[in-house]
Amino acid sequence: MSPLRLGVNIDHVATVRNARGGLHPDPVRAAQIASAAGADGITAHLREDRRHITDADIGALMGGIALPLNLEMAATEEMLGIALRHRPHAACIVPERREERTTEGGLDAAGLHNILAPMVARLTDAGIRVSLFIEPSDRQVEAAAKLRAPVIELHTGRYCHLEGDAQAEEVARIATAAAHAAALGLEPHAGHGLSFENVTPIAAIPEIAELNIGHFLIGEAIFIGLDASVREMRRLMDAARGGA
Ligand code: PXP
Repeated sequence: MSPLRLGVNIDHVATVRNARGGLHPDPVRAAQIASAAGADGITAHLREDRRHITDADIGALMGGIALPLNLEMAATEEMLGIALRHRPHAACIVPERREERTTEGGLDAAGLHNILAPMVARLTDAGIRVSLFIEPSDRQVEAAAKLRAPVIELHTGRYCHLEGDAQAEEVARIATAAAHAAALGLEPHAGHGLSFENVTPIAAIPEIAELNIGHFLIGEAIFIGLDASVREMRRLMDAARGGA
């Protein structure tokens, strides 16, 4: 089976730092530890309200890490300007509502075609690999393909909140969407809410090329350290792919 990349989202290192307004803990240091522990990329979400990652963090991450940076961003002119200035390896366009605690749903790639099409084109022209964070549905996968985004990230939030048969049905929905995306030439990623306990069925979906995981890894790092937290996730992902 093809290898599965791990993108470590370091937003909540910045959440803890911002609780006191100083410089500690430093998201760049967290990214370096994640890199040494087996991460393949670093993800950071610059939100409109800057509640965790700040503009300065994006500059520091671009300069301070060797791994590719995946910038999560809302589809706004402000964020487009920031992405074009920094030129991260990848940009994942996400829906954003100021009052939400986290990214609660997928992007309506179908309904927002006219807003997203020029944005995808401008990011792509700048050499940034664009990903669209969508719900695992045929409609959204087809809309992403029409937008000419090379990557989709399938929202696993619903999967993470379900149990039993309903959760198994959601895995099947995610697997179907990943296969559909791959057949259309898109590279499927997945993420949101993944943990040691629930990562295996998602990691086992063969078309999925990357998982982006943040909150659980940073939370677990409080108990076992960030290096051990990332290493264990890496091990579970590799095992799900039939590796060690
Ligand atoms: N992927 C996307 C597009 C996200 O918005 C987030 C949350 O910022 C994640 C993955 C990671 O989710 P979590 O922090 O729950 O692991």
